[in-house]
Amino acid sequence: MNNFVYCNPVKIVFGKGSIAELKELLPANKKIMMIYGGGSIKANGVYDQVLDAAGGRKITEFAGIEANPLYETCMKAVEIIKRENITFLLAAGGGSVIDATKFIAAASLYAGSDPWDILKTGGQCLKSALPFGTVLTLAATGSEMNPNSVISRAKTQEKLAFASPAVYPQFSILDPETLYSLPGRQIANGIVDTFVHVMEQYMTYDNNAPLQDRQAEAVISTLLELSPHVFEEPEDYDLKANLMWCSTQALNGLIACGQPQDWSTHMIGHELTAFYGLDHAQSLAVVLPSLWRCRKEFKKQKLLRYAKRIFNIDTGCPGRDVDEAINKTEEFFHSVKVPTKLSDYGVDAKEAAEKVRDRFNARKVAHGERAEITGDVAYEILAGCK
Ligand code: NZQ
Ligand code: ZN
Repeated sequence: MNNFVYCNPVKIVFGKGSIAELKELLPANKKIMMIYGGGSIKANGVYDQVLDAAGGRKITEFAGIEANPLYETCMKAVEIIKRENITFLLAAGGGSVIDATKFIAAASLYAGSDPWDILKTGGQCLKSALPFGTVLTLAATGSEMNPNSVISRAKTQEKLAFASPAVYPQFSILDPETLYSLPGRQIANGIVDTFVHVMEQYMTYDNNAPLQDRQAEAVISTLLELSPHVFEEPEDYDLKANLMWCSTQALNGLIACGQPQDWSTHMIGHELTAFYGLDHAQSLAVVLPSLWRCRKEFKKQKLLRYAKRIFNIDTGCPGRDVDEAINKTEEFFHSVKVPTKLSDYGVDAKEAAEKVRDRFNARKVAHGERAEITGDVAYEILAGCK
């Protein structure tokens, strides 16, 4: 097991009716801005619950954060924050709204000349950010309990991530009832994203960390068990509660402790979203199976473990091996109606492979647990997603 430091300062307030807790959680002496997306919180009652809990306090609103939030939109919020001396932010929405709020919180206090540098340095240059809390409405990213944010820039067709302890939320409210209004596509996206988050921290090589391996497998097994039913029973509270907690646990840093991590599916996926507009989870469903097929020899130890533990595949039997586990993973994505080929999204695989290869090469980056996913390897992975 590798050395690690683990500190997660996010206060989680979980359960039915928990938005009312905002009354105590919102700081009394701060000027607050509430940040949200395209209006789903108005349709599902979350907006009214937040304002009720705020009890008549004056709250400035910033609406219109898009899915895959744009730098350009975030900078408009930063302008208002500076002009109106806002000192506390409240995100109400999914990963996009929370990620945007993290970037806005950071850019509002950033002393450098170009806030895009926060993204270009992956957050390395960041020292402070405005404090903020969140009300989560979509189970997927784990952004509610982690220090990560992913921001896109329309002008340059880029999608970059940053991470910094300065952007942990102070608190996150997780009321599973907010998930009742989610369309099937977003529930499916959340399931695939959660699944792949676990895999980025698990499907590497054996590192003598059986507890973390079993914690990861627990999230995956629970997710596989819940998945068919969350679509059948949209207002089953316990199903939504368990789904929500799985997503948070998948990316709050716990299962990564002392473990090697991959993240190349995400890095390639972000390019597919930046160039072709695929939903985040759609991009992951395309990349992951092909990446595993290409890197099978390097991931064999863990693929074998995964085959046995998750799908009960007896890999000792002739004809039963890791390929079966990869096929079953792809079938799982199909079972929640998330397609896994670039052609399913009208994207030419060769063109996408070339674009991503050129971008990785220009940035001189290599991803993955062994830093072996170079531009050329990314080309091979995407060319296999036809
Ligand atoms: O715009 P609104 O009205 O908020 O509608 C959203 C949006 O259209 C809607 N929605 C959210 N909650 C709803 C709802 N509709 C009905 N009922 C509800 N309760 O769903 C749509 C998608 O929302 P979005 O926030 O974009 O989805 P998600 O939570 O999947 O976030 C995706 C973003 O997070 C980033 C992704 O790259 C992408 O930009 N990620 C962030 C991570 C992190 N911070 O750690 C990790 C992830 O790997 C990921 O990269
Ligand atoms: Zn993700």
